[in-house]
Amino acid sequence: MSLSTKHLLGIKHLQPEDIAVLLQTAAQFKEVLQRPVKKVPSLRDVTIVNLFYENSTRTRISFELAEKRLSADTINFAASGSSVSKGETLLDTVNNILSMKVDMVVMRHSASGAPHFLAKHIDAAIINAGDGINEHPTQALLDAFSIQEKVGSLAGCRVAIIGDVMHSRVALSNMYLLKKMGAEVMVAGPPTLIPKHLAQALDVAVEYNLQKALQWCDVANVLRIQLERQNQVLFSSLREYNLAYGIKRPLLDALKKDIIIMHPGPINRGVEIDSDVADGRHSIILDQVQNGVAVRMAALYLLNPQH
Ligand code: CP
Repeated sequence: MSLSTKHLLGIKHLQPEDIAVLLQTAAQFKEVLQRPVKKVPSLRDVTIVNLFYENSTRTRISFELAEKRLSADTINFAASGSSVSKGETLLDTVNNILSMKVDMVVMRHSASGAPHFLAKHIDAAIINAGDGINEHPTQALLDAFSIQEKVGSLAGCRVAIIGDVMHSRVALSNMYLLKKMGAEVMVAGPPTLIPKHLAQALDVAVEYNLQKALQWCDVANVLRIQLERQNQVLFSSLREYNLAYGIKRPLLDALKKDIIIMHPGPINRGVEIDSDVADGRHSIILDQVQNGVAVRMAALYLLNPQH
């Protein structure tokens, strides 16, 4: 099994067959992760640099753990504390690291397109670990894996992506992936946080009423309000956002069915999701995090240049 691409820069350019191979391989690695000995030699003698220009908890730890489980040699680079503060460019930084014989680069950057730029200039395989407001492909893959695990199939599954769609790379990667795999997709939230023309461009439904979105869906993927990316007031206050669009237990109790609640993290408790939902029986948030390791093992394994 192999992929049609050398890099994982986004979901946009993946074929459905690539996504299926990534999810099948992740299922095999999830089985490995249940064993007493969780380590396999698949990436022995492969060197990977984790290049994080933007903060991360889940993605960074998940990639590091995936690399260790695959027996790779890893280097962790954080822009803070590096020579980036002395003015070194992204390309110079990466070329210096690559001169030390690095095979793969996992990269998070606040600039949309940064990993795509790098892919044009270096030979190593690149995995995008989140670029600005563009894409977060491994998050979409782990979300899809988690949905499949709970629901059985992505095809025909109704997924509502709720909240700050405008600033969310998770939302964009999820929309691309779910549509390619035959799911029905809706975005829901305040009109100011749903980009105009999105529905038409990506063929997704739009709903501004939270209750109607919850009634429609099998799965609600709740997005973090990304205050760090908002340079204008797009809703009146966090309290009012929570009242109109926060996922609350009584809303779920009023539904005539059970739905699955997902969130990529980090959570703003009491803003887009209340604690009794985040920690309640509908939530698979920590399953998503656990599945992230198997999904990232699959991506690293399949993109290994020596594969
Ligand atoms: N979901 C996600 O990308 O979380 P981090 O920013 O903590 O990596």
